[in-house]
Amino acid sequence: MDRPDQTPVIRLADYAPPPWRVTHVDLVFDLDAEATQVEATLALQPDPARPAAPLRLDGEDLELLDIALDGQPLPPARYRVDATGLTVLGVDAPCLLRTRVRIRPQTNTRLEGLYVSGASLMTQCEAEGFRRITWFVDRPDVSAVYTVTLRADRTKYPVLLSNGNPAGAGDLDDGHHWARFVDPHPKPCYLFALVAGTLGHLSAPFRTMDGRDVTVRVWAEPADVPRCRHALESTLRAMRWDEKRFGRAYDLDVFDIVAAQDFTMGAMENKGLNIFNARFILADIDTATDADFEAIESVIGHEYFHNWSGNRVTLRDWFQLSLKEGLTVFRDQEFTADLHSRAMKRIDDVRLLKSRQFAEDAGPLAHPVRPASYSEINNFYTATVYEKGAEIIRMLHTLLGELTFRRALDLYFARHDGGAATVEDLLDAMREASGRDLAQFARWYDQAGTPQIAVTEAFDPATGDYTLHLAQHTPATPDGSEKQPLHLPFAFALYDADDRRIATPPDTDAAQRPGLVELTAAEHTLRWRGLAQRPLPAFLQGLSAPARLRYDYAASDLGRLLRIESDALVRWECAQQLVADAVLRGEARPDARPALIAALGALLADTTLDPAFVAECVSVADVWSLADRCDRIDLDLLWREREALLDDIAAAHADLLAARYDALSPAALGGLAPACIAARQLRNVALSLLTRRDPSARRAEAQFAQANTLTDRLAALAALLRVDAPGAAAALAAFRTRHADDPLTTDKWLTLVVTRPQPDAVDAVRDILAGPLWQPRNPNRVRTVLGHFARNNPVAFHRRDGAGYALLFDWLPELDRINPQVAARQLTALEPWRRLDADRAARIEAHLRAFAALPLSRDSADVAGRLLG
Ligand code: ARG
Ligand code: ZN
Repeated sequence: MDRPDQTPVIRLADYAPPPWRVTHVDLVFDLDAEATQVEATLALQPDPARPAAPLRLDGEDLELLDIALDGQPLPPARYRVDATGLTVLGVDAPCLLRTRVRIRPQTNTRLEGLYVSGASLMTQCEAEGFRRITWFVDRPDVSAVYTVTLRADRTKYPVLLSNGNPAGAGDLDDGHHWARFVDPHPKPCYLFALVAGTLGHLSAPFRTMDGRDVTVRVWAEPADVPRCRHALESTLRAMRWDEKRFGRAYDLDVFDIVAAQDFTMGAMENKGLNIFNARFILADIDTATDADFEAIESVIGHEYFHNWSGNRVTLRDWFQLSLKEGLTVFRDQEFTADLHSRAMKRIDDVRLLKSRQFAEDAGPLAHPVRPASYSEINNFYTATVYEKGAEIIRMLHTLLGELTFRRALDLYFARHDGGAATVEDLLDAMREASGRDLAQFARWYDQAGTPQIAVTEAFDPATGDYTLHLAQHTPATPDGSEKQPLHLPFAFALYDADDRRIATPPDTDAAQRPGLVELTAAEHTLRWRGLAQRPLPAFLQGLSAPARLRYDYAASDLGRLLRIESDALVRWECAQQLVADAVLRGEARPDARPALIAALGALLADTTLDPAFVAECVSVADVWSLADRCDRIDLDLLWREREALLDDIAAAHADLLAARYDALSPAALGGLAPACIAARQLRNVALSLLTRRDPSARRAEAQFAQANTLTDRLAALAALLRVDAPGAAAALAAFRTRHADDPLTTDKWLTLVVTRPQPDAVDAVRDILAGPLWQPRNPNRVRTVLGHFARNNPVAFHRRDGAGYALLFDWLPELDRINPQVAARQLTALEPWRRLDADRAARIEAHLRAFAALPLSRDSADVAGRLLG
């Protein structure tokens, strides 16, 4: 294992093109869980423009069996193998290198390279897993054409899949069979994939807009195949949508998606053969929640959209990760927004951005969307690279408008098809298509930290002059870099005394169009003349830039804006601000609580509103979202005040909540139509509040008994557990029995157990960690038991006696030996530790220091080091 002090730091500034390229790859696999042999024939070419560099290939945990150069066995004096690769000496011209290695999928617990999940063999190569399969130039700017032959036992592995189009299959001696695949599209090795197993599938035909007939298949373990329907339909929707909205068509004869129960991340866009965490594939109304259905469609879309934004145009180097991830998240957000409610999708995305990315940007792990350096790239698959990266693309979309943005993307895809691009390449296309200067805008990629926009106003009743003064400022981040003003689209509106929008544009030096000014300087002034009264302003509609707004609204103005504003996101933000003022500034802002309660009453009473929107406004932010607004985090106070607010809301609106609950019930019991989903959403928020005032939890028990969706069953169970209702234990047991043999539903059950907001949940977690449900090699299980506990149970995990922290740190060293990426990810739950009270911070620091002193993976050493920073 690497020690942190020996870990090399990779810098963007040091980028140099590869001295050797691979143009063609021929791979032959003799697959077996215990020992697989890989024969690789690489057509290699030195860069003619550079003086002869040694031929160096990446490789890890490979056992060399054979090596030959241009058909001749290579004597040991001609090559060297070390822990990170292979060097071939004395070559300076194009050549053919053939190697044969043995690898061991069964003991590959890192789940990078070729590994075992259930009875199947599968791969995960992004970012640097291919080097665990064979020696290769493992970097994204080396693209090759692949031919892959898979050979395996026909009974154990009847299904054989790899990238590209099928190119033959047949039987071999000894009960083995083979299948060959040719991928005509050059690709970097991180997009390589294979799957071998006993799998079933659902399939559907798809004809592309340019007339190609594609077979789309979704694969899973045979018992799970019926639960692949939603994934298959989502795939077809994604394929059609990308044609319509972005003019992008699919480019192979088959498109395969495979569900894996063991998967480190969410899903992977391997060319023509996506491999997914099963939780983003398998769904039916009894085993997946409404949110799961939506997440599945969204992740299916995301991976499919990578076929252009990522695969056809890939990355020059891993620093450019957001070039594919930010752009693809933007595309998947638009997919969901076009197919469902745009307003609700934006609220969901902004909630995620603010709770995860703003927090990341404000803590010890802050980094630019395009980091300048890294020691382990897997630690940069972050909310900043994905979510803030998508916001940057969204700002470009706002600045350019849909048509010009579309032309710019067309230009980008056409110009870089088959190549490896950089952020600059994308910005160049945007600049050329629009004629706009984006030099300052580019800072968004390289400057860490969330900008704050402080707005102050002045109104002179004598003249009717109204000025808004906008000052942007980005707080310091751990890299110590100096912060420059950013180019950001700032949407706004002014409302007059009759709640009408004032159409007059302001006097300002900033570029503007109706309802939007472009901030470029540290300060701007907007001035209106001759207004009859002080107007009510609204800012950052749709969150036009990923910034924090600082404007001191009176509670009554927030209540009014929540009523009259046209943008749903701003309305939702008004409710969030009232909640924050009530919880965090109760004494300074005594009117926030009554204003919030009145506003929520009005929303609950208005049956013309989308119930999903009402539900979002009535759902009070979790403690971490509230903590994000505090310099010091008093966890106990936050929890207490938040609970008290929830009790107040429940008490003030008991009748209204009950009435809505009852009236929504018939719709909620329906199927998956949008109206039914929205009904369940509001009804379950109501249930949770109503149950606070009803210790017998009658409604929750009845809902649990009658539920015909997992959404309703889980919501009822959560409500029962939260109040420790008499029937809670029986319901928990019944749920467990009902779903005992499905790992994903077991994870749902475990999530409820480990997030039960009582201090003694620590005992339940300890029991789980000692029992048969604890499977430390399964990433979903680790995320469920330790991840949800650490992130979503502040009461138990952050118990004052440190019992919660001890459970996490008891397991982290072992988890790090099993799967470094998963272990490192669990550590990030401690991100805000320095802002906690001194006792808690001291306990966490002691654990972190002891952990960081162990021999750790690069992944964990890096995160622990930065947390201690
Ligand atoms: N490219 C994948 C996606 O976002 C993520 C893969 C990340 N895997 C990893 N080991 N870091 O769609
Ligand atoms: Zn992605």
